[in-house]
Amino acid sequence: MAGSKNAATKMMVASLLTSEKVILENFPRIGDTEITAELCRSVGSKVKIRDHRLEIQTPKITNFRVKQLSQRNRIPILALGPLLNRIKKAEVPVLGGDKIGHRPIDFHIASLTKLGAKITIEGLVYKAKTKGLRGTSINLFYPSVGATENTLLAAVLAKGKTVISGAAIEPEIIDLIKFLQKMGAIIELGVDRKIYIEGVKRLNGVTHRIIPDRNEAVSFAVMALATKGKILVKGAVQGHLINFLNAVRRLGGNFKIFPEGIEFSRRNNRPFNPLVIETDTHPGFMTDWQQPFCILLTQARGLSVIHETVYEDRFGYTQDLNRMGAKIKTTTKCLGKLPCRFSKKGYNHNCQIKGPTPLSGSRIVIPDIRAGIAHIIAALTAKGESLITGIAHIDRGYENLEGRLKKLGADIKRVEIDKN
Ligand code: EPU
Repeated sequence: MAGSKNAATKMMVASLLTSEKVILENFPRIGDTEITAELCRSVGSKVKIRDHRLEIQTPKITNFRVKQLSQRNRIPILALGPLLNRIKKAEVPVLGGDKIGHRPIDFHIASLTKLGAKITIEGLVYKAKTKGLRGTSINLFYPSVGATENTLLAAVLAKGKTVISGAAIEPEIIDLIKFLQKMGAIIELGVDRKIYIEGVKRLNGVTHRIIPDRNEAVSFAVMALATKGKILVKGAVQGHLINFLNAVRRLGGNFKIFPEGIEFSRRNNRPFNPLVIETDTHPGFMTDWQQPFCILLTQARGLSVIHETVYEDRFGYTQDLNRMGAKIKTTTKCLGKLPCRFSKKGYNHNCQIKGPTPLSGSRIVIPDIRAGIAHIIAALTAKGESLITGIAHIDRGYENLEGRLKKLGADIKRVEIDKN
C-alpha cells in the first residue's frame, strides 16, 4: 500500500521550514504529490523523485508567491507558515478542493493572525506578512485537520510557546508531528485535544517513512467485501482502522489481522446486516470512508443510515448510486446521536439506504475523489458495463489504480472519449 496522500503532501510543505535536505520514503506517486512538488518548486525547492522516494531541499526561498496551481488542491494555504517563518511574507492562491461543502479556511486565518501574521485577501490571492511569528494560545472551534497542521507549521519556528486547544489528532497529524520532532521541533501532546509547541530557532533535514494510506486501505477492503472476494491489504494498520473494522464486523464481513496487513473477505452470500454509521473526526468513523461503505449498505437487508457530521454536502454521489439501482434517500434531519453542526440548517447531510438492491452498470461522472472510488467499487459490483468519467480525481489520490485492479481480476480499461 502506498504512503498516505494526506501525510505526504503536508510533509512536503513542512520541508520548506528548513534549508537542509528532507527525504520521504514510501512516497505516493499521485496527482496531489505532483501538484505539491510544483508548489514547492515555485518557491525555490529542488525536488528529486525516484520510485517511492522523494528528496526535497529548499536552500533559499526564492519566491514568496506560491504559484496558482490546479484549483483542485487545497495544499497552498499550508505554505503560509513556512514562508512567513523563513522570509516573513507569503502569497498563496485561494483554495480549490473537492465539491463536498463550503470548506472555509476561517480557522487557518484566525490562527495565523493570532500568531502575528497580517493577512489580507486581494482578488484570488491571500497576502500575508509578519514582523516575526510569536507563540500564543489558539482555540479551534472544530478539530480541523488543515487548521491544526497550519498552526503547527507556523508555531514550530515562532518565538515562544503555543497551545492549540481543540486540535485534530488524525494519524496523519501524528505522523506530521513525528516528522517535525525529527526535524528538531518541540511538540507535546496533551490530553483533551491539546497540543503544546515550544518554538525553536531552526529545524534540520530529516529522513522519514510516511504512514500507509488508511483511505486506500478502506477502499480495497470495501472492494473485497462488495465483490465477494478476498484481498490482503498489505501494510494496512489496525490501529488506524479500529472503528472501520468494527463496522465491517457488525455488517457481517470478515477480516483477519496479519503481521503484513489485513485480509478482508466475505464468507457467504447472505445479505449484510443494516447499520447506523456516523462520521466524525478521529478516532471516529472517518468522513472519507462513508462513500465506499455506502456501497456495502446497499447490499444490507433492511434500512441503514449514514449521518455525516464533518462535511455538510457529501451525499451528491448517492444520486448516481440510485441510477444504478440503489434506494437511497437523503434528508436534512439528523438521524444519529452525535452532536452535529449541521442540525436544523437545511443541509442534506443524512441518508437512508434501503437494501439489498442489485446494482447495474451506468454512465457516471466522478465529482470528487472519495465519491469516485465509491463509484468504481459500485461499477465493479454492478451487473453490466459502466462508463466512468472524471478519473483525474482518482489519479489525485490513488497510484496506478487501474493496474492494481486488473491484478485483482477487474475488467477495467482507460479509454479516450471523443467529446464531439
Ligand atoms: N472548517 C471550517 N473552517 C476552517 C477549516 C475547516 O469551518 O477554517 C470545517 C470544514 O468546512 C469541514 C470541517 O471543518 O466541515 C473539517 O475540515 P478539515 O479542516 O478537518 O478538513 P481538511 O483539512 O480541509 C482533510 C483532508 C480531507 C479529509 C478531512 C477530514 C487533506 C488534504 N484533506 O481536509 O481529505 O476528509 O481532512 O478528515 O488532508 C480526501 O483525502 O479526499 C479528503 C477530502
